[in-house]
Amino acid sequence: MTTTAPREQQALELDAADPLPTRRPEFCVPPFGASGTGEAAYLAGNSLGLQPAALRGRLGTELDDWARLGVEGHTEATRPWLPYHELLRGPAARLIGARPQEVVVMNSLTINLHLLMVSFYRPTPQRHAIVIEDSAFPSDSYAVRSQAAFHGFDPAEAIVRLTPRPGEAALRTADVLRYLSEEGERVALVLLGAVNYFTGELFDIDAITAAGQAAGAVVGWDLAHAAGNVPLRLHDSGADWAAWCSYKYLNSGPGSLAGAFVHERHLADRTLPKFAGWWSTDPRTRFRMGPVVTPVDTADSWQVSNPPILAMAPVLLSLEMFDQTGMPALRAKSLRLTGYLEFLLDELCATRPAEVITPRDPDRRGAQLSVRVSGRDVGPVTHRLRQEFGVYADARSPDVIRLAPAPMYNTFHDCWRAATALVAVLDTQVLDA
Ligand SMILES: Cc1ncc(COP(=O)(O)O)c(C=O)c1O
Repeated sequence: MTTTAPREQQALELDAADPLPTRRPEFCVPPFGASGTGEAAYLAGNSLGLQPAALRGRLGTELDDWARLGVEGHTEATRPWLPYHELLRGPAARLIGARPQEVVVMNSLTINLHLLMVSFYRPTPQRHAIVIEDSAFPSDSYAVRSQAAFHGFDPAEAIVRLTPRPGEAALRTADVLRYLSEEGERVALVLLGAVNYFTGELFDIDAITAAGQAAGAVVGWDLAHAAGNVPLRLHDSGADWAAWCSYKYLNSGPGSLAGAFVHERHLADRTLPKFAGWWSTDPRTRFRMGPVVTPVDTADSWQVSNPPILAMAPVLLSLEMFDQTGMPALRAKSLRLTGYLEFLLDELCATRPAEVITPRDPDRRGAQLSVRVSGRDVGPVTHRLRQEFGVYADARSPDVIRLAPAPMYNTFHDCWRAATALVAVLDTQVLDA
């Protein structure tokens, strides 16, 4: 007979007592264990969220409709394809705190960043800098550098990478504000990850937006790690634009579609340059096949191509699930889960060469905790976590492990498993240095 360790017992009791029941049974959790009947402790949802079990049926419906109806599915499918993207508008807007006309689901994230920078990066010789975090996700860095170069500027000069204070891992909102007040007159665009992918830091969106705009810059947000992770109020924040992907906390599948937000005050601005296609035009006149776009005063005017329905079906299902549970309840649970994981990691770090580099203040972070492990190559560490303990974590070489308890499907027990496995691996891992 096996007995349950007190800490594990505590985690199980926290799960049983939590006011928000987990939706874990509605997800395909990777199997773990010799018999394959156990489940992984999947703390990599900030990288790729889990598959909702209902998705197979949803995709089956679209495949059946296509098989049954061919082209007539555009109007006769269970969810007709022509207006399909309209189904996503309301829940996507609720997710990020926007008005429905301000959002559209389309393309991939970096593509949306580019399409929005076509409109919102309007550099001049005096004002052409783009401000990003030094630890911005590389794709954002490449995107802004290529935008600067496209406009004839030297990326090395035009891109301002804000760094944390010496000895700190996370960039402070206060330091972003200070930069904008001191150097803002040369800044054309501020583009930050609302939640930084590396440290898990949540920036103060309202304050940075206000400071950037006060300095005369346009302010855009990469919400890749924020959408479905923290409650957002994009419209009220006054942000000019934003984009996000839906394969992380939004569980919509590898490489799945992205979202775009354009603040209402820009929607009827006919002076903004845009790259157009037949889905940029007014749907009421689209099939007259005229040579010139008929503008629409919604975020749809940033659309280019007709939407990929098989890719939209997972996003729709996911947005429905977020709508059902609601971000306030998810955030409340996220705070409980992440706080518990932090408590366990603090115990671990107290006697090992490891530290949590994510801000300690729960208001300054989302679901992710990043742990820096000195003197170890974290690649083999996360490999062992998964192979030996069924714990999925993300290695950011050389020395950071990211753990993200996603409140849709993670449990206190998952947090306990992750911390316990990390202790076991660190205590038996050969030092690299
Ligand atoms: C913050 C951030 N921005 C951009 C990207 C790139 O996204 P995509 O490949 O969908 O363009 C990612 C991917 O993980 C990301 O985390």
